[in-house]
Amino acid sequence: MKKIFLFVFLFVEINKINAQRITIPIETSQNALVLQTDKDNRLGTIHFGKKLSQTSEYSAIGKAYKYDDNNAGIYNSIYTPSGSWNLVEPAFEVLHTDGNTSSELKYISHQTQKIDENVTQTSILLKDPLYPVEVTLYFKTYAKENVMEQWSVIKNQEKGNLILKKYASANLYFIAKDYYLHHYHGGWAKEMKPEDTKLTAGIKTLDSKLGTRANLFQPPTFMLSFDRQATEDDGKVLLGTLAWSGNFKIDFEKDSYQNLRLIAGINPFASEYILATNEEFKTPSFIQTYSENGKGEASRNMHNWARKYRILDGEGTRLTLLNNWEATYFDFDENKLTSLFKGAKELGVDMFLLDDGWFANKYPRNGDVAGLGDWQENKKKLPNGIGYLVKEATKAGVKFGIWVEPEMVNPKSELYEKHLDWVIREPNRPETYFRNQLPLDLSNPEVQDFVYGVLDNLFTKNPEIAFIKWDCNAVTYNAHSMYLERTKKPQTQLYVDYVKGLYKVLERIRAKYPKVPMMLCSGGGGRVDYEALKYFTEFWVSDNTDPLERIFMQWEYSYYYPAIAQCNHITDWSNVGIKFRTDVAMMGKMGYDIVVGKLDEKELAFSQNALKNYANLKGTIWHGDMYRLVNPFENQMASAQYVNAQKDQAVMFNYLTDNRYDLNSLLGPIQLKGLDATKKYKLKEINVYPGTKGAFNEEVAYSGEYLMTIGVNPHVSNNRKSVVIEINEVK
Ligand code: DGJ
Repeated sequence: MKKIFLFVFLFVEINKINAQRITIPIETSQNALVLQTDKDNRLGTIHFGKKLSQTSEYSAIGKAYKYDDNNAGIYNSIYTPSGSWNLVEPAFEVLHTDGNTSSELKYISHQTQKIDENVTQTSILLKDPLYPVEVTLYFKTYAKENVMEQWSVIKNQEKGNLILKKYASANLYFIAKDYYLHHYHGGWAKEMKPEDTKLTAGIKTLDSKLGTRANLFQPPTFMLSFDRQATEDDGKVLLGTLAWSGNFKIDFEKDSYQNLRLIAGINPFASEYILATNEEFKTPSFIQTYSENGKGEASRNMHNWARKYRILDGEGTRLTLLNNWEATYFDFDENKLTSLFKGAKELGVDMFLLDDGWFANKYPRNGDVAGLGDWQENKKKLPNGIGYLVKEATKAGVKFGIWVEPEMVNPKSELYEKHLDWVIREPNRPETYFRNQLPLDLSNPEVQDFVYGVLDNLFTKNPEIAFIKWDCNAVTYNAHSMYLERTKKPQTQLYVDYVKGLYKVLERIRAKYPKVPMMLCSGGGGRVDYEALKYFTEFWVSDNTDPLERIFMQWEYSYYYPAIAQCNHITDWSNVGIKFRTDVAMMGKMGYDIVVGKLDEKELAFSQNALKNYANLKGTIWHGDMYRLVNPFENQMASAQYVNAQKDQAVMFNYLTDNRYDLNSLLGPIQLKGLDATKKYKLKEINVYPGTKGAFNEEVAYSGEYLMTIGVNPHVSNNRKSVVIEINEVK
């Protein structure tokens, strides 16, 4: 009787609230973002986290929190306007046609559309009651992967220009005891150096102002733990990133209620954008996944989403390759290259990739000081052109790929001489170079045609080209566009229009060449993001190929990007043995930057065999679930594992990352993860160097339960610095 009364009471209460308020739950299979209007029809977040099984109960949440300070009702705004009653960091700031700087956004309507079994899109229309300005917020959820993608579209219906001063993609609100941010800094060859910080009152900002790319010093990727630091398998954590290949800004503001406001989007720095009457602006996507079971699960969700929905051909295959960059730098000719093709074949890779230095005649590209922009084959080095190389590679039995950096120009080039107005430079200031080069002005449609033409000409003349490495080394200094000046648009649009111009070019390339694999490179990994990866199949992680450094770098990248997208090459950057270098490179998309002829007999035999092992395991590494077993940032070794969907194959990579004498404490068994407890498995050490022996009896079968409870000791030591174990179900 009591129960029934309580139920009726709750039902009535909820309905009373319902009568006044609109509640919008946006759910994945595990999580929910729940929005609700307040008494004045403003829309705010009332819940972010685990979803409730009874959707009808969401509407009661609003009552649980009281924000009764003067202006606190806006803290949880789903798109915080500025200039009216807001005192916190806005998501949206505009200058109206009449010079007024205030805005207010009220809920008008929303709709939810099921795109397929897994994907749902909710759009919410907000309007300023005073000015004809609309914002539509989009939330696309991927149920199984627990990923949410969100962006906004701003529409101007004023009779004149609306100036967008801040136009964020996402504005989220979290309620927890404490917040821990895991973020990154870096530089060339030092990508993805992690840092942890407990957020305190005020604003912590991650941002970049580099122009041509998002990252060099700071990527737009981060992890946010709630209540306490999440670990690999435990704790509440959100993995987030902005899908935008230019300036970004992500603010974390801890408000006076100790709640956390997140505002992420294009960096408003020097980027006021004009919207003419009836024009719209679509912001880039903010992408996040939330897990209550630690960073590992969150990252596997992100990988599953990225492979299925984002990375070009993410569920497909990739080519192993031999690149000539570190083998020759600019010093090569036709003969040297064709001899390297033979090496590629002997080694057993799929493709030869010709890097920088193959073009320009008036100012030959014999170093990084000249030639960029002049995309004709250098006649001295390549008298018979690219066509000849493609033929010779085919004859040698390998495919042929080529490097380009089509957005850039060296002042020492014919392009610069002919088209100074295509170059991003401040006409009245001295030029400032980054790697002796300047970016071309991609806001200019003629430049877009030129950049598209570089690729289109290569493919038209040589349809057999099987791969492109697209580099982008310089950042934007002196952000000034002659095109914007000529067309009377504000210079403040350059940063945004550059990136939009780049995407237009990539759209055109993909319309005509939908499949050809392309590697995204920016003097390393600086350019990777989830918008660019719509067009690219993979990215160059870093110019730093020292395997020890790579273990740490790949570890951090691996939270956000699956192995299939990460290009890892074996080079001579470090003098540790080829086994260590190879094992580390295997944890992604493997390639080589070496002269095969310089390998001794054992090194060559080892490498040929490793490529065979890779052929057998690459499906599991690229498409399987990744488990991080021992974290090298906290231990003297690293261990990570990949398991395929059928759970009948796995591979475990183990490395000694510290040479100190007292190593014994760490060298116990390591518990595997993600196997089937009821299956039987056999272990086999692979990539065993000729003349040495593996440490396992390959005949013994272990249950999945044993391997996940007791574990495997890879017996890593100073004499066995890297150990790779293949795990196969006994059928
Ligand atoms: C920078 C890249 O990261 C390298 O791999 C190489 O392609 C050079 N550019 C070529 O200039």
